[in-house]
Amino acid sequence: MPEDRIDPWASETYDYGRLIEKFGIEQFSMERFPMPDPPIQFRRGVVFGCRGFDPVHRAIVDGTGFAVLTGLAPSGKMHFGHKMVLDQVLAYHRWGADVFVAVADIEAWGARGVPLDESRHLAIEEYILNYIALGLPQERTSIYSQSKRKDVMDIAFEMSRPVNWSTMKAVYGFTDETNMSHIMSPLVQVGDILHVQLDKYGGPRPTIVPVGVDQDPHIRLSRDIAKAFRYYSVQETEQGTGVFLKGDRPMEDLDAAETELLKHGKVEANKPYRALYPEMSVEEANLRMLELEHSRGSYGFFAPSSSYNMFMTALTGGKMSSSIPESAIFLTDTPEEAIKKMKAAVTGGRTTAEEQREQGGEPDICSVYEMFNFHLIESDDELAAVRKECLDGDRLCGACKAQAAELLESFLSDLAEKREAARDIVKEYMDD
Ligand code: TRP
Ligand code: SF4
Repeated sequence: MPEDRIDPWASETYDYGRLIEKFGIEQFSMERFPMPDPPIQFRRGVVFGCRGFDPVHRAIVDGTGFAVLTGLAPSGKMHFGHKMVLDQVLAYHRWGADVFVAVADIEAWGARGVPLDESRHLAIEEYILNYIALGLPQERTSIYSQSKRKDVMDIAFEMSRPVNWSTMKAVYGFTDETNMSHIMSPLVQVGDILHVQLDKYGGPRPTIVPVGVDQDPHIRLSRDIAKAFRYYSVQETEQGTGVFLKGDRPMEDLDAAETELLKHGKVEANKPYRALYPEMSVEEANLRMLELEHSRGSYGFFAPSSSYNMFMTALTGGKMSSSIPESAIFLTDTPEEAIKKMKAAVTGGRTTAEEQREQGGEPDICSVYEMFNFHLIESDDELAAVRKECLDGDRLCGACKAQAAELLESFLSDLAEKREAARDIVKEYMDD
């Protein structure tokens, strides 16, 4: 990975600790964000980082509604790494979120040359049928293609005004040779992420975008753009909460803010400094200002929140990838194909059975254990037992793989059945 950049289009492995330090990603944990009935990905450390998660957390705990957005670049097959994101989307839906699924046909075209009609076909066959089979409900769900949703493209154009070429080069490593469609695609993704807050799609509200950490540049760009369109910046200061009018806004906006804030308590004003100091929390002041901006004709978008998944380890070692078929189990693999890959997988076992009985295995570097951990074993007690048996040398890899194969077989054959059933209803999920 380049020293100072995350490349969304490269297939690389990451040092998660370094990402947190270097790119200012915040640490995510269940202690920090307790939630009712969390999915495996939250309980078992798959989600390791986030940006600006607090408003989403509050919406979950208070049941006040929010949006979740996921997108798919239809360039390969859906594997278990992709499933981890969908599992979270389903959890967010249970917690009251409206679900948006972007078929990233513009990005697939710009970055990989996949024609638009092929994207749609691939998206349905490889992803959306699986999403439905995995339990994505139709209510409160909207699936669309980037190229067909004008509101997404309009936001991409209008809101890219604060972004210049030098930023795009620095963030994405674009060069003079990069094609224009590729250059535009991250801005279209910003359109995906922000358009769900237009009134037509539910209005300004917290939005969570659960992604692999390779998508972080798009998240930062979206957050920066949302902030650039604000009238006020609301910050913690030495004098408490500060509301500052941006340089390009007229003084009437400061007066309007003062009138609004005065309805809720005392406000100290420093007008030459374009500043107000209301007696309330930063959070509350920010919410009031977002509402005010919205009522005065601005977007009033919340800065979108993100959560970051670890990548799954490839069955062959390294990072799982659609372009290396042996590295991943695809959701459309037959049970036979899947089991064959599983049987050939790199484990944390020792060279001989005897050594393993003596020293125990190493579940933390074992791709079979990872399948149990992230997908196949829902019960925490059962998983702990597998782990202990492995560590104690009471479990050998052959038998362990056989158990994984059995679980995998029943999972995949059940999924295949549900996928076929989904064919009849998939059209009803597609908004455009
Ligand atoms: N860029 C994402 C990928 O490569 C796909 C995507 C498009 C996306 N729009 C999105 C992801 C919005 C999250 C949110 O997989
Ligand atoms: Fe992995 Fe199972 Fe072998 Fe342990 S016993 S190293 S969990 S395959």
